[in-house]
Amino acid sequence: MIAYQALQSILRDAPKTWLVTGVAGFIGSNLLETLLKLDQRVVGLDNFATGHARNLDEVRTLVTPEQWARFMFIDGDIRKLDDCRRACEGVDYVLHQAALGSVPRSLDDPITSNATNIDGFLNMLVAARDAEVKSFTYAASSSTYGDHPGLPKVEDTIGKPLSPYAVTKYVNELYAEVFARSYGFSTMGLRYFNVFGKRQDPNGAYAAVIPKWTAAMIQGEDVFINGDGETSRDFCFVDNAVQVNLLAATTPDPAARNQVYNVAVGGRTSLNQLFEALRQALGENGVRYHKRPMHREFRAGDVLHSQADIGKAERLLGYASSHDIHAGIKAAMPWYSRFLAHE
Ligand SMILES: NC(=O)c1ccc[n+]([C@@H]2O[C@H](COP(=O)([O-])OP(=O)(O)OC[C@H]3O[C@@H](n4cnc5c(N)ncnc54)[C@H](O)[C@@H]3O)[C@@H](O)[C@H]2O)c1
Repeated sequence: MIAYQALQSILRDAPKTWLVTGVAGFIGSNLLETLLKLDQRVVGLDNFATGHARNLDEVRTLVTPEQWARFMFIDGDIRKLDDCRRACEGVDYVLHQAALGSVPRSLDDPITSNATNIDGFLNMLVAARDAEVKSFTYAASSSTYGDHPGLPKVEDTIGKPLSPYAVTKYVNELYAEVFARSYGFSTMGLRYFNVFGKRQDPNGAYAAVIPKWTAAMIQGEDVFINGDGETSRDFCFVDNAVQVNLLAATTPDPAARNQVYNVAVGGRTSLNQLFEALRQALGENGVRYHKRPMHREFRAGDVLHSQADIGKAERLLGYASSHDIHAGIKAAMPWYSRFLAHE
């Protein structure tokens, strides 16, 4: 945390202008909250494809009116180059989060995922390059490890993609590298591993496992585990992802630039263990869930096991995870209890 603490005080003393695309989404709105609390100026771009105005409204309640006044929102689409150009004007650092997430969504509709995640990504790269921003940090994905069986995952050893979503995220890395090489432009790819925390959408067919199960448990519904439950993931609390974004965007070290980084904790939790951890955390928040999970078919496109080697981000960026999965679940549960109680 030492590098992050030092960075926070540098930013407070000399505020910068940040563009957060996908700002109305889960990770984007958490970036917004942190940046505004550090007195930064933030431009946000979103088309509400999967994000929500309620996320922005919530951030507004968590910062001061002066901090909120430093936020400018653009209702726009990264598939439109003009929207991207407008958003990049006068920006120091880009944190590009806008994309259509979810492996099953990309299997159902690869064309829309491709348009947003590849065409939109390229628009953002061009707009950020032309606006001469200091750096372009983007949401990559652990899905890029594809069918490579090795654990833990190390950045330079990947397999073949298992879904259209994974293809789009890998293409992002290829474009970012080529822009760095061809235009001397600074790009930083963050391979997120199953990020979770407050404001992650629990609703809809493509919801991620932690909010989906938490919602089901609070509402007393069945929880479905795809496969035998021994599938494992490196669940990463959102504060860790926010930390790496800020460290990566601002790194003064040339060796740390134009790289991709795993963003995770370095742990491995099976879905069966996750189920028990959520049940216990909800119990501590006064919600009792007595049903047993239901098992169904393993889902196409998913990798079996995932665990990150986070040594590169620790070494080059000074990253130090602030929350393991249990601390993260503990921090996120009160939000879910409140949010779902009001649904
Ligand atoms: N959450 C995770 O575990 C995880 C893991 C790996 C990678 N990622 C990546 O991190 C990023 C953020 O994911 P998230 O979990 O916050 O998802 P999210 O769906 O909550 O946020 C994505 C945001 O992008 C916006 N968006 C989508 N298409 C857009 C478009 N054409 N123009 C403008 N805005 C658009 C959405 O409205 C939404 O607000 C995504 O790029 C995702 O692929 C997330």
